[in-house]
Amino acid sequence: MSRLDGKYALITGGSQGLGLQLALVFARQGTAGIAIVARHREQLQAARELIQAAAPQTQVLAIAADVSQPQKIERVVATTLDAFQGRLDILVNNASTIGLSPMPFLLDYPLAEFHRVLNTNLIAPFLLIKKFLPAIVDRGGSIINVTSDAGVTGYPGWGAYGISKFGLEGLSQTWAAELEGSNVRVNWVDPGNMNTAMHRAAEPDEDPSQWADPQDVTEIFIYLASDESQAVNGQRFQAQPEEVDDVEAAEAAIA
Ligand SMILES: NC(=O)c1ccc[n+]([C@@H]2O[C@H](COP(=O)([O-])OP(=O)(O)OC[C@H]3O[C@@H](n4cnc5c(N)ncnc54)[C@H](OP(=O)(O)O)[C@@H]3O)[C@@H](O)[C@H]2O)c1
Repeated sequence: MSRLDGKYALITGGSQGLGLQLALVFARQGTAGIAIVARHREQLQAARELIQAAAPQTQVLAIAADVSQPQKIERVVATTLDAFQGRLDILVNNASTIGLSPMPFLLDYPLAEFHRVLNTNLIAPFLLIKKFLPAIVDRGGSIINVTSDAGVTGYPGWGAYGISKFGLEGLSQTWAAELEGSNVRVNWVDPGNMNTAMHRAAEPDEDPSQWADPQDVTEIFIYLASDESQAVNGQRFQAQPEEVDDVEAAEAAIA
């Protein structure tokens, strides 16, 4: 018996980075179906093949779509529910964009790009939850939103991205409060620093080898996706709690 036996999951941004690692571990934990969503078709297909090879029993669905566009979200929802017999147990809102790289200060931030970042990182999770909820409510399930420390601290230069994650934290809290007492739970996870394309674009001058491999931060996501967390709603988690300890130790040393 595996921890996600028979469950159906959708992971946005499942073609690379954290999303791909989540799709791989979810499939290895026995999911009946996994849908991954991203824009670039070739990379998405390569990810689909990787997941299928890792878990031949899982139905793997690759949906090429830009979640920043509401009409594409309608298609994502319809395609997924059609393939999974109207059922979804786990929704992971993971797809995000960092916005422009190098990251401009707010004073220089182009409005169109600000809209694109918010549409991808905040409006898309809102719509995906709203549209999938009727299917998830039927059997109960887990919604997991992927946030960031830039969603609780306003770092200079992390403008549109950070603001979108502040919004995602509020969105998560509000959905969780409104769903309290139902059999749908909403929790959110800061995965911490990871060596991914997004982080390398955000901080091109840093050494990426100092950051975690995304495959090492997946445990909390398996827990939240599984029935082990059935009673957990409205909580924020840190996938790398030791990062918090490091910051506190550094602050204590300075004081
Ligand atoms: N990396 C870190 O250190 C770090 C730290 C804290 C939080 N996070 C969060 O962790 C999550 C995963 O980040 P990551 O570092 O793994 O990012 P990543 O490697 O850049 O992957 C992002 C994924 O999202 C997809 N995506 C981006 N825009 C999309 C759109 N408009 N429509 C559909 N798919 C889209 C990408 O595929 P396409 O480009 O093909 O669309 C890709 O699959 C994000 O929510 C991020 O904010 C990351």
